[in-house]
Amino acid sequence: MKTEFIRLLQQTELEGMEKIVSNLERLGFFEAPASTRFHLSIPGGLVQHSISVCKAAINIRNIAIAEKPDLESKLPMKSVILVALLHDICKAEIYKTSFRNVKNEQGIWEKVPAYETDYSHFPMGHGEKSVIRLMQWGVKLTKDEMLAIRWHMNAWDIPFQSYEALGNLNAAKEQCPLLTILQTADMLSSMIYED
Ligand SMILES: [Fe+2]
Ligand SMILES: [Fe+2]
Repeated sequence: MKTEFIRLLQQTELEGMEKIVSNLERLGFFEAPASTRFHLSIPGGLVQHSISVCKAAINIRNIAIAEKPDLESKLPMKSVILVALLHDICKAEIYKTSFRNVKNEQGIWEKVPAYETDYSHFPMGHGEKSVIRLMQWGVKLTKDEMLAIRWHMNAWDIPFQSYEALGNLNAAKEQCPLLTILQTADMLSSMIYED
C-alpha cells in the first residue's frame, strides 16, 4: 500500500516529496486505521482509503470532463491526485490502540482490540489541519487544492448553527469543482467501496 501511495504521489511531481513521505512516516500515517469503528478500522486503513479515494477521484474527474469538456482546465490530474491522497493526513496521529467490550457468539462480553481517538497532538480540526500541515511542510497548494481539502467533509464537520461556515462552504462549492470531485470520491470510497 505504501509503495502504491508513493507511486501515485510521484505523479503529482510535487517538490519535496521525500519530506512529505518522511513526515507521514513520523506521524504514523502508513500504520493508522481510516476510522475507529466504521470504514477500514484496521492497521494501514488510512493509506488504503487514500488510495481508494484517489482512484475514485480520477474516474469521476474523467467522467465529469467527458460530460463537460470545459471542466478540464479546473481539474488538473495532478491536483486531483494530490488532494485525494493527502486530504485525510490530519488523521495520521489521532488513533490510539485500546480495547472495547463486545458480546461473543455465546453472548458473553469480552474485550477485543479497538481504536480510540486522541486529538491532543495538534488540535486543529480536520480538513483545515490537513491544509495547514501541508503548508508547514512547504507544499505549494493552489487555491482550489486548499478549498478541496479544507471542505472535503462537506457539512459534516461544521456546526450547523454557523452561517459563516456554511456560507464559506457554499461559496467554495460554487467556485471549485475539484471540491465536489473529492467529496464524491471520499463518500463513494468510505460508504461503498471499502468494507
Ligand atoms: Fe476526512
Ligand atoms: Fe477521507
